[in-house]
Amino acid sequence: METESRKVSDSAVETVHIVRPNHLNNSGRLFGGILMQWIDEVAALAAKRHCRKNVTTVSVDHLHFIKGAYPKDDIVIKGRVTHVGNTSMEVKVDTYVEDENGERTLINRAYLTEVALGHDDKPVKVPRLFLETEEERQEWVKAEKRRELRKLQKAGGF
Ligand SMILES: CC(C)(COP(=O)(O)OP(=O)(O)OC[C@H]1O[C@@H](n2cnc3c(N)ncnc32)[C@H](O)[C@@H]1OP(=O)(O)O)[C@@H](O)C(=O)NCCC(=O)NCCS
Repeated sequence: METESRKVSDSAVETVHIVRPNHLNNSGRLFGGILMQWIDEVAALAAKRHCRKNVTTVSVDHLHFIKGAYPKDDIVIKGRVTHVGNTSMEVKVDTYVEDENGERTLINRAYLTEVALGHDDKPVKVPRLFLETEEERQEWVKAEKRRELRKLQKAGGF
Protein backbone atom coordinates (compact mmCIF):
# COMPACT_ATOMS: atom_id res chain seq x y z
CA MET A 1 0.00 0.00 0.00
CA GLU A 2 2.81 2.43 0.90
CA THR A 3 4.15 2.90 -2.63
CA GLU A 4 0.73 2.67 -4.26
CA SER A 5 -0.42 5.89 -5.89
CA ARG A 6 -3.47 7.07 -7.83
CA LYS A 7 -4.05 9.99 -10.13
CA VAL A 8 -6.35 12.90 -9.25
CA SER A 9 -8.51 11.95 -12.25
CA ASP A 10 -8.96 8.43 -10.83
CA SER A 11 -11.07 9.87 -8.01
CA ALA A 12 -13.12 12.35 -10.05
CA VAL A 13 -16.86 12.21 -9.35
CA GLU A 14 -19.68 14.09 -11.06
CA THR A 15 -23.31 13.83 -10.00
CA VAL A 16 -26.45 15.53 -11.24
CA HIS A 17 -29.63 16.50 -9.39
CA ILE A 18 -32.75 18.38 -10.43
CA VAL A 19 -34.15 20.76 -7.82
CA ARG A 20 -37.60 19.40 -6.91
CA PRO A 21 -40.28 20.75 -4.53
CA ASN A 22 -39.11 18.49 -1.67
CA HIS A 23 -35.59 20.08 -1.89
CA LEU A 24 -36.78 23.63 -1.14
CA ASN A 25 -36.62 25.77 1.98
CA ASN A 26 -39.35 28.23 3.01
CA SER A 27 -37.90 30.89 0.70
CA GLY A 28 -38.41 28.69 -2.35
CA ARG A 29 -34.67 28.07 -2.82
CA LEU A 30 -32.68 24.85 -2.64
CA PHE A 31 -32.36 24.00 1.08
CA GLY A 32 -28.70 24.23 2.15
CA GLY A 33 -28.93 21.02 4.19
CA ILE A 34 -29.94 19.03 1.10
CA LEU A 35 -27.03 20.47 -0.88
CA MET A 36 -24.65 19.66 1.99
CA GLN A 37 -25.85 16.05 1.91
CA TRP A 38 -25.19 15.82 -1.83
CA ILE A 39 -21.75 17.43 -1.37
CA ASP A 40 -20.88 15.02 1.44
CA GLU A 41 -21.87 12.04 -0.71
CA VAL A 42 -19.71 13.26 -3.62
CA ALA A 43 -16.72 13.80 -1.30
CA ALA A 44 -17.09 10.35 0.23
CA LEU A 45 -17.32 8.69 -3.18
CA ALA A 46 -14.24 10.55 -4.50
CA ALA A 47 -12.27 9.55 -1.40
CA LYS A 48 -13.45 5.93 -1.71
CA ARG A 49 -12.33 5.85 -5.33
CA HIS A 50 -8.90 7.02 -4.23
CA CYS A 51 -8.34 4.67 -1.30
CA ARG A 52 -10.73 1.82 -2.16
CA LYS A 53 -11.73 1.59 1.49
CA ASN A 54 -14.63 2.67 3.62
CA VAL A 55 -14.35 6.38 4.51
CA THR A 56 -15.87 8.85 6.94
CA THR A 57 -16.05 12.64 6.87
CA VAL A 58 -14.03 14.21 9.69
CA SER A 59 -14.35 17.87 8.69
CA VAL A 60 -15.95 20.27 6.25
CA ASP A 61 -14.40 23.67 5.73
CA HIS A 62 -14.67 26.66 3.44
CA LEU A 63 -18.22 25.57 2.61
CA HIS A 64 -19.27 28.67 0.75
CA PHE A 65 -22.79 29.24 -0.58
CA ILE A 66 -22.04 31.60 -3.45
CA LYS A 67 -25.46 31.69 -5.15
CA GLY A 68 -28.90 30.16 -4.61
CA ALA A 69 -30.55 27.47 -6.72
CA TYR A 70 -34.21 27.35 -7.64
CA PRO A 71 -36.94 24.89 -8.68
CA LYS A 72 -36.13 22.87 -11.81
CA ASP A 73 -32.46 23.96 -11.80
CA ASP A 74 -30.01 21.29 -12.95
CA ILE A 75 -27.34 20.92 -10.30
CA VAL A 76 -23.95 19.45 -11.22
CA ILE A 77 -21.60 18.52 -8.37
CA LYS A 78 -17.93 17.73 -9.10
CA GLY A 79 -15.49 16.29 -6.58
CA ARG A 80 -11.85 15.23 -6.70
CA VAL A 81 -9.09 14.45 -4.25
CA THR A 82 -6.69 17.39 -3.96
CA HIS A 83 -4.37 16.21 -1.18
CA VAL A 84 -3.59 13.15 0.89
CA GLY A 85 -2.02 12.89 4.31
CA ASN A 86 -1.30 9.65 6.10
CA THR A 87 -4.88 8.39 6.56
CA SER A 88 -6.84 11.43 5.40
CA MET A 89 -7.76 12.87 2.02
CA GLU A 90 -8.92 16.38 1.16
CA VAL A 91 -11.69 16.52 -1.45
CA LYS A 92 -12.61 19.71 -3.28
CA VAL A 93 -16.29 19.83 -4.24
CA ASP A 94 -17.65 22.41 -6.68
CA THR A 95 -21.38 22.77 -7.29
CA TYR A 96 -22.81 24.38 -10.41
CA VAL A 97 -26.17 25.25 -11.92
CA GLU A 98 -26.13 24.21 -15.58
CA ASP A 99 -28.35 26.12 -18.00
CA GLU A 100 -29.97 24.90 -21.23
CA ASN A 101 -26.82 25.84 -23.22
CA GLY A 102 -24.61 23.77 -20.96
CA GLU A 103 -23.14 26.90 -19.29
CA ARG A 104 -22.21 26.23 -15.69
CA THR A 105 -22.39 28.81 -12.88
CA LEU A 106 -20.51 28.02 -9.68
CA ILE A 107 -22.92 28.18 -6.72
CA ASN A 108 -20.94 26.43 -3.97
CA ARG A 109 -17.36 25.42 -3.15
CA ALA A 110 -16.37 23.21 -0.26
CA TYR A 111 -13.35 21.28 1.01
CA LEU A 112 -13.99 18.11 2.98
CA THR A 113 -11.56 15.87 4.84
CA GLU A 114 -12.27 12.17 4.57
CA VAL A 115 -10.51 9.48 6.58
CA ALA A 116 -9.98 5.92 5.30
CA LEU A 117 -11.14 3.24 7.70
CA GLY A 118 -10.03 -0.37 8.02
CA HIS A 119 -12.26 -3.32 8.92
CA ASP A 120 -11.85 -2.39 12.60
CA ASP A 121 -13.17 1.14 11.86
CA LYS A 122 -9.73 2.62 12.65
CA PRO A 123 -7.90 5.02 10.29
CA VAL A 124 -5.64 3.31 7.73
CA LYS A 125 -2.96 4.57 5.38
CA VAL A 126 -4.10 5.86 1.98
CA PRO A 127 -2.31 5.66 -1.41
CA ARG A 128 -0.17 8.62 -2.48
CA LEU A 129 -1.66 11.16 -4.90
CA PHE A 130 0.00 11.30 -8.33
CA LEU A 131 -0.11 14.92 -9.58
CA GLU A 132 -0.15 15.28 -13.36
CA THR A 133 -0.94 18.93 -14.09
CA GLU A 134 0.28 22.34 -12.92
CA GLU A 135 -3.24 23.06 -11.59
CA GLU A 136 -3.13 19.88 -9.49
CA ARG A 137 0.30 20.83 -8.11
CA GLN A 138 -0.93 24.34 -7.21
CA GLU A 139 -4.03 22.89 -5.53
CA TRP A 140 -1.79 20.54 -3.50
CA VAL A 141 0.30 23.50 -2.23
CA LYS A 142 -2.87 25.36 -1.17
CA ALA A 143 -4.23 22.18 0.42
CA GLU A 144 -1.07 21.87 2.54
CA LYS A 145 -1.82 25.33 3.96
CA ARG A 146 -5.45 24.37 4.64
CA ARG A 147 -4.24 21.21 6.39
CA GLU A 148 -1.96 23.29 8.65
CA LEU A 149 -4.87 25.63 9.43
CA ARG A 150 -7.11 22.69 10.37
CA LYS A 151 -4.42 21.35 12.68
CA LEU A 152 -4.09 24.74 14.36
CA GLN A 153 -7.87 25.06 14.70
CA LYS A 154 -8.14 21.57 16.18
CA ALA A 155 -5.28 22.22 18.60
CA GLY A 156 -6.92 25.55 19.54
CA GLY A 157 -10.25 23.85 20.23
CA PHE A 158 -12.25 25.75 17.61
C1 LIG B 1 -12.46 10.15 11.62
C2 LIG B 1 -12.01 9.50 12.92
C3 LIG B 1 -12.04 7.99 12.78
C4 LIG B 1 -10.56 9.98 13.15
O1 LIG B 1 -10.20 9.50 14.41
P1 LIG B 1 -8.99 10.20 15.19
O2 LIG B 1 -8.86 9.53 16.49
O3 LIG B 1 -9.11 11.67 15.12
O4 LIG B 1 -7.80 9.70 14.31
P2 LIG B 1 -6.44 10.42 14.06
O5 LIG B 1 -6.10 11.41 15.13
O6 LIG B 1 -5.46 9.32 13.76
O7 LIG B 1 -6.69 11.25 12.72
C5 LIG B 1 -6.89 10.59 11.51
C6 LIG B 1 -6.71 11.60 10.40
O8 LIG B 1 -7.79 12.53 10.47
C7 LIG B 1 -7.26 13.85 10.51
N1 LIG B 1 -8.14 14.66 11.34
C8 LIG B 1 -8.54 14.40 12.60
N2 LIG B 1 -9.35 15.40 13.03
C9 LIG B 1 -9.45 16.28 12.02
C10 LIG B 1 -10.14 17.51 11.82
N3 LIG B 1 -10.90 18.04 12.77
N4 LIG B 1 -10.03 18.14 10.63
C11 LIG B 1 -9.28 17.63 9.64
N5 LIG B 1 -8.60 16.46 9.76
C12 LIG B 1 -8.69 15.81 10.93
C13 LIG B 1 -5.89 13.71 11.12
O9 LIG B 1 -5.06 14.81 10.77
C14 LIG B 1 -5.43 12.42 10.51
O10 LIG B 1 -4.99 12.67 9.18
P3 LIG B 1 -3.57 12.07 8.64
O11 LIG B 1 -3.51 10.63 9.05
O12 LIG B 1 -3.66 12.24 7.16
O13 LIG B 1 -2.49 12.90 9.26
C15 LIG B 1 -12.90 9.93 14.13
O14 LIG B 1 -12.66 11.30 14.41
C16 LIG B 1 -14.38 9.74 13.85
O15 LIG B 1 -14.87 8.60 13.81
N6 LIG B 1 -15.12 10.86 13.66
C17 LIG B 1 -16.54 10.77 13.34
C18 LIG B 1 -16.73 10.67 11.83
C19 LIG B 1 -18.18 10.67 11.47
O16 LIG B 1 -18.97 9.97 12.09
N7 LIG B 1 -18.54 11.46 10.42
C20 LIG B 1 -19.91 11.71 10.08
C21 LIG B 1 -20.52 10.64 9.28
S1 LIG B 1 -19.90 10.57 7.65
